[in-house]
Order: sequence, then structure tokens, then C-alpha cells
Amino acid sequence: MGGASVNAPVMSNHEAEIARRRTFAIISHPDAGKTTITEKLLLFGGAIQMAGAVRARRSGKFAASDFIEIEKQRGISVSTAVMSFEHAGCAINLLDTPGHEDFSEDTYRVLTAVDSALMVLDSAKGVEARTLALMEVCRLRDTPVITFCNKFDREALEPFELLDNIEKKLNIQCAPMTWPIGMGKDFQGVYDLIDRSVVFYEATARGRKNEIVKVDPATPALVDAVGESAARKLREDLELLDGASAPFNQTQFFRGRQTPVFFGSAINNFGVKELLDSFARFAPAPQPRATTTRFVEPAEPAFTGFVFKIQANLDPSHRDRMAFIRITSGRYERGMKMRHVRSGRDVAVNNATTFLARERTLAEEAFPGDIIGVHNHGAIRIGDTFTEGEALKFTGIPSFAPELFRRARLLDPLKSKSLVKGLEQLAEEGAAQLYRPLDGQDYLLGALGSLQFDVIQSRLAAEYNVRARFEDTPFQAARWLRSDDPQALEKFVHQNRDRIYRDLSDQLTFVANTDWAMNYAAQQNPKVEFLKTMEIA
Ligand code: G4P
Repeated sequence: MGGASVNAPVMSNHEAEIARRRTFAIISHPDAGKTTITEKLLLFGGAIQMAGAVRARRSGKFAASDFIEIEKQRGISVSTAVMSFEHAGCAINLLDTPGHEDFSEDTYRVLTAVDSALMVLDSAKGVEARTLALMEVCRLRDTPVITFCNKFDREALEPFELLDNIEKKLNIQCAPMTWPIGMGKDFQGVYDLIDRSVVFYEATARGRKNEIVKVDPATPALVDAVGESAARKLREDLELLDGASAPFNQTQFFRGRQTPVFFGSAINNFGVKELLDSFARFAPAPQPRATTTRFVEPAEPAFTGFVFKIQANLDPSHRDRMAFIRITSGRYERGMKMRHVRSGRDVAVNNATTFLARERTLAEEAFPGDIIGVHNHGAIRIGDTFTEGEALKFTGIPSFAPELFRRARLLDPLKSKSLVKGLEQLAEEGAAQLYRPLDGQDYLLGALGSLQFDVIQSRLAAEYNVRARFEDTPFQAARWLRSDDPQALEKFVHQNRDRIYRDLSDQLTFVANTDWAMNYAAQQNPKVEFLKTMEIA
């Protein structure tokens, strides 16, 4: 106590653990450098072994079932959803998002479990289509976004042009944190606008860490270091920046209105450490979360969390699955009792996993912002809430109406039970939507991308020993039905019975052959809502 200021806020251990957590995901267009950056981040976190696995996975040449095979062989998790490591006193949780765009629904859900996102751009291309789509998702919750303009060791857009591209396309203000000196073969490094120093780039062998030297740009030492013309250009740029760009503002950043921007070259490990340092320094700690009844603050003592992802067991001979729970308040302690709110059951959780980048370990304790993995046999679903007893339901975990539809046809008629079980379990993992017709047995499978069907087909064979063929259907659109007028809903269902299905949560769903037909049905039935996105019930 002694001389300590009486006004200094005293942080409990619990609050300190929350304050040092950073939970984020990387969003990017394919090929911008997400895998490369992930690897470099893991190297900083001391997880060298994992880094190669990330690349193996990225190639996209593997189907999901191959990952499971690879994981078994290597004894490590390739398709791990979470990588946790320490940096600069922070406990960092990097949530992986599937690379292939067919898995975008999974990606959207992962983004509900983070407190910030790292946007990686290919600096020759600026903002591309998929980045744009993912940013829209971030915007739904005003998720703070940090930007990394990658590949400055190649010819890139002029940095001012790049900022303009980001600001116009994403409608977000840019606050450069570093500034590139040259590009391509003339790329010399970046000026760090926060530390007011120059960090030199050296084209080193791939992945090797380069030397960092610091120089004050206001002194003649800059000319000695980068040459006359680069020094002149940098000074001009800095002058322009002074008038043209906004200074970093943490409040605007936290509101998702401003993005701090970094430049570098991930493959040469240049600019990544600065990025990570700033992440530890500026990115938000775990934030409050909305439920249907109230906001939950991370510092609340009682444990709460929600499930944002389900993954099949790595070992197909075990049918259990891992539910990934994002902790939103309180503290997880091994063996504690948690209430699974949807079923009302209390469960003792002894075997939750955490995801330290070196290895999967059993969690003794975990804090808000952390992800724990809980084994189960199918009782837990995406969107489920866990508490210490309070009947809460977290909001904002979306499900999207599929756009592609197939019918599963059994090749072995004796296996129909296994088929239904397999389809149900895979659908519960969020691999696709499964629809049961009001009449009959013809299950319908819906997905956003055709790769999902391939994955399901191979997993049915590998894990359930069921050979099935997926046949085309005439359907192109599905909408969940909802109405405040039960009679209007009943009438619509009655008139369109052959096109009405129930999803896994028993929600009524209408399918149509064309978007036009869907719109027409919606116009003709104004008392019925036709929903394209739905919060998971
Ligand atoms: P992704 O996960 O976002 O799809 O991108 P990934 O990291 O796999 O990078 C895509 C390609 O861009 C890779 O090349 C990678 O080596 C390259 N790359 C990443 N960062 C940089 C960088 O800073 N500078 C340059 N010049 N290239 C970069 P590839 O040829 O597709 O793969 P590989 O042969 O390197 O494995």
C-alpha cells in the first residue's frame, strides 16, 4: 500500500486477465497473404511446428476429411479453429476462418466470436470482392478492424491510392500507422508514425527475420540511409499525410469507423512484428455481448459463453464432436458445472480443451475472450448459450438461407438410418442445412457453395460408412417463414405443402425454383415474412 496513489484504479486478477486478452480473426480475399501472416504470427508466438501445418491446409487441395487424416498422422491440429499464444504480455486468440469461400457461413459465425479483425490486402489489388463481403459482416457488429497492406516487396498501388481505395470501397476512415518507403525492388522499409522512426526492410530468405535499424527522418541520417530521392519522397509524403490523413483515434477505431493501417511484406516477415505489437497495444480487450434480455459484461463474476462452431472429432471412430465456446463473462474452471440453457441441463465440464499454439491442452481455467472446446455427442448446437444458471440467450449468431440444393440418394438401401443420422449430425455442425419435408422422406440438403456437398459426401462415406449420391434439384432459393398471423401462415403452408420443409430447429422453410418465384410468393403473402437470414434459435 504505502505510497501508492489512492486514486489509482485497482484491477482484480480477473479484470487484469480480461484486459490482456485479444481475440481476433483474419479476413482477406484468397491469395492476399492470410496464411503467410498466420504463420508469421505463430512463429512470434513460439509455435513453429504449427506454421507448416497452416500452409499444408491452405493449399485447398485437401478436402475437410483429408485434414482429419493429416491431423491423425501428424498428431497436431491442422484444422484447428483457434490458435492461442502470448505476445507482449497479451494472451492472443487467433480464430481461424476457413479459406474457401464455400465455407463463408462458418466464417460469418467465427466473426461473431471475435473482438476485432485483421484485414489483409494484396497491395497491388486493394480491396477485393471477398474482403468487401467480410467487412459487411464486421460492420453488423461494428467490429474494429486493423488493416495490413501486404506484398510491398512487389509493385503495388501508390500508398495514397491504396488508402483512397480502402476509404471509398469500405466507407471507413484510414489512419496510417506506418508508411512505406518505395515498393517492389525499391522497397526500403517503413516509417513508423507512432514511434517516429524508420524501420528498414531487408530482402531476406523467405521467412527469415530481418534486421531492424532505427533512424530519425528529420535528420540527414535519413539521406545516408535511404538515398536522396527516397528521403525527399518520404518527407513529401509525410507532409501530405499531415494534412490529408486522420491521426489514429482509438474511440473511432473501437466503433469500427476508423482502421489503423500498416504496410509490409508478410513473406519476408517485414512489418508483422510492428503489427502484432500494435495489436497488443491498441486492439480491444473482450467486449460486452448482447443477449435477448440484457448486455453481459466480461467482468461479471458468473460464467457465460456461447457456441459459435462445432467440429467433428478428429478420430472418426469416435462420434463425439467439439463445441467451441467463446467465454463472454466469468471464469471457466475445470470441473465446474455449467447450464446448457437450451436443454435446461446442468453439466460438469472436466475435459474442456484450450488451444495453446504448441499443443492442445486441457484447460484448468479460462477467461472472457478465451475459447474452450467441449466434447459432446450432439447435444450441443451452434448458437447455444452456457451459464451458471441464468436463462440467457446470446444474439447475433446468423444462419444464411442456402442457394444450392441437392437430394441425397442412398446407394445402399439398408443404410437409410445411418444416412439420416449422418446428415443430421453434419448439419448440426453447420456443414449444410438439412430440410425434412412435411410429407415423405426426401431429405433436402442446402448449402452456399458446392464444395460443401463434396465434403459431406466424403464424410458420410468415411465416418458413417454410407455411400450416397447427391442429385440436383430444381430449387434455387429457400426462405424461413415467420408470421404474427398464424392463420396466414397456415394458409400459405397448406397451399404450398410440397415446397415446405422443416430445418433442424423445426423452423418452417419454403423453397422455390427461382428468385422470381420466391419474390412473387412473398408479394402475394404480405402477412408472411420470408427470411433470408435468421438468428440461430
Ligand atoms: P491466402 O492465405 O490469403 O490465400 O494467401 P497466402 O498466404 O497463401 O499467400 C498467397 C501467395 O502470396 C503465396 O504465393 C505467398 O507466398 C504469396 N505472398 C504472401 N505474402 C507475400 C509478400 O509479402 N510478398 C510476396 N511477394 N508474396 C507474398 P504462392 O506462390 O501462391 O504460394 P507459395 O508457392 O509461396 O506457397
